[in-house]
Amino acid sequence: MMKLGVNIDHVATVREARYRGQVHGEPDPVAAALVSEAAGAHGITAHLREDRRHIQDRDVLALRRQIRTRLNLEMADIPEIVEIALKLKPDIVCLVPERRQEVTTEGGLDVSGHFQSLEITRRRMNEAGIEVSLFITPDPVQIEASARTGSQFIELHTGAFAEAFAQPADRDREFQRLLEGARQAQSLGLQVNAGHGLNYENVHWMQRIPGLVELNIGHSIVSRALRVGMAQAVRDMLQAMAAVPEH
Ligand code: PXP
Repeated sequence: MMKLGVNIDHVATVREARYRGQVHGEPDPVAAALVSEAAGAHGITAHLREDRRHIQDRDVLALRRQIRTRLNLEMADIPEIVEIALKLKPDIVCLVPERRQEVTTEGGLDVSGHFQSLEITRRRMNEAGIEVSLFITPDPVQIEASARTGSQFIELHTGAFAEAFAQPADRDREFQRLLEGARQAQSLGLQVNAGHGLNYENVHWMQRIPGLVELNIGHSIVSRALRVGMAQAVRDMLQAMAAVPEH
């Protein structure tokens, strides 16, 4: 069964819209994480950005202390954040691009272009007992480079699939790329997660990718939570992930 990592960044986005620069404010992403766990989420994902546009340092510290499942810290491979991660000791880090030059044309991390730095960061994280995932598009070159870094996981960028979802031919092409990318990665010994743009309508397609470990989903869950509450939104997503595909 695929696991669900709930990304709580956008809870912090709403807080920062009103309370930027203050050390309190609502809504609280940590409270949302605890509710998500109680509703069945298998892990919590948060992105500590260099510009601190949503999640703040105090949030990741509180998450580390309080959550009981798995903490997945999304982060750029930059010295300041690497040092924070090494001290924080999340269970896993997912290295993501934040700056234009780190991104492939399609939006994932350019692993082959930043191989040396990523390999060093991967090693430092692993030595601290932290697993490493790389957020990439299903591009054979990036998958092969990811395996060479020695990372434990990749997270396949599902954004192109999600954007193409309403156009069957494009959707099927993007889905095929994800399917083949997952297969290639698994044959190289990588474990495969997926995320970005997944929602209650498209998520069941992910079942058709054999061996996917975890989906990281944020925006659609936080959006639905405005209507039904966070716990119900998480339960609905777990149900949508397990729904029988119609295709
Ligand atoms: N995975 C990664 C690596 C991401 O950067 C994001 C977006 O923050 C997500 C998953 C979640 O995407 P969404 O908010 O569209 O569900």
